[in-house]
Amino acid sequence: MVSFSGAGLSAESGVPTFRDAQTGGLWAKHDPMRLASPQGFADDPQLVSQWYAHRRRAIAEAQPNGAHTALARRSEMIHVTQNVDDLLHRAGAKQVIQLHGTIAADRCHASCGYEEPIDMTDPPNLRNCPECGSQMRPAVVWFGESLPNSAWAEAEQACRDCDVLLVIGTSAVVYPAAGLIGLAKSAGAGIIIVNTHQSDASSLADVELLGKASEVVPAILID
Ligand code: OAD
Ligand code: ZN
Repeated sequence: MVSFSGAGLSAESGVPTFRDAQTGGLWAKHDPMRLASPQGFADDPQLVSQWYAHRRRAIAEAQPNGAHTALARRSEMIHVTQNVDDLLHRAGAKQVIQLHGTIAADRCHASCGYEEPIDMTDPPNLRNCPECGSQMRPAVVWFGESLPNSAWAEAEQACRDCDVLLVIGTSAVVYPAAGLIGLAKSAGAGIIIVNTHQSDASSLADVELLGKASEVVPAILID
């Protein structure tokens, strides 16, 4: 079994989702194109840096919920996630593939390869890359940027090889990530979906469990 997760996995830890109408989602407060894109960073690096500092502090205060813990306990599972938070790692998960990067590190904007973990409780301000002098920015994938090659290749392989893909808390509207569900299905995997609502992946589900991740995931993964 491989898990494939989105923002709904961390929602009960208090980390805002992106598109949840009912909670007014992260995007409702900010214009995503302005904050999570190379253009937005070029237009106002200070604003983007402050927004990420705010999100980093909020994530540092958040705790892994029952779903993160249940997934982490299954050390044999590979966890493919769209989430940039570090809650699966903090829950003890060993094999985590972050398709959209990590908010817990900064990297060189000129992609010289320099990347360094940051203190989420005291996030750094704008600074230059110590290797090449370009700007440092969060090591997350922004709109219009490509996914980290190695993460994508590993995730594809895991989804192709698995017997069951446990899809948790994703609206399945962002590609190429969402395409992994169809890829697993066409490779013969059973698709189990855990979500509070129907999603774009519902039609691919062999089993769809409508409920909160922190309640349903532990119940499925009970040893
Ligand atoms: P969304 O905000 O699009 O979707 C969150 C999903 O979680 C929805 O389907 C909700 O119904 C579900 N959900 C909310 N609370 C839940 C709970 N307690 N238990 C179970 N499910 C719950 O977030 P993602 O699908 O992760 O990309 O969005 C995908 C990508 O869009 C993100 O990774 C981000 C964004 O652009 C980048 O940053 C590149
Ligand atoms: Zn650099």
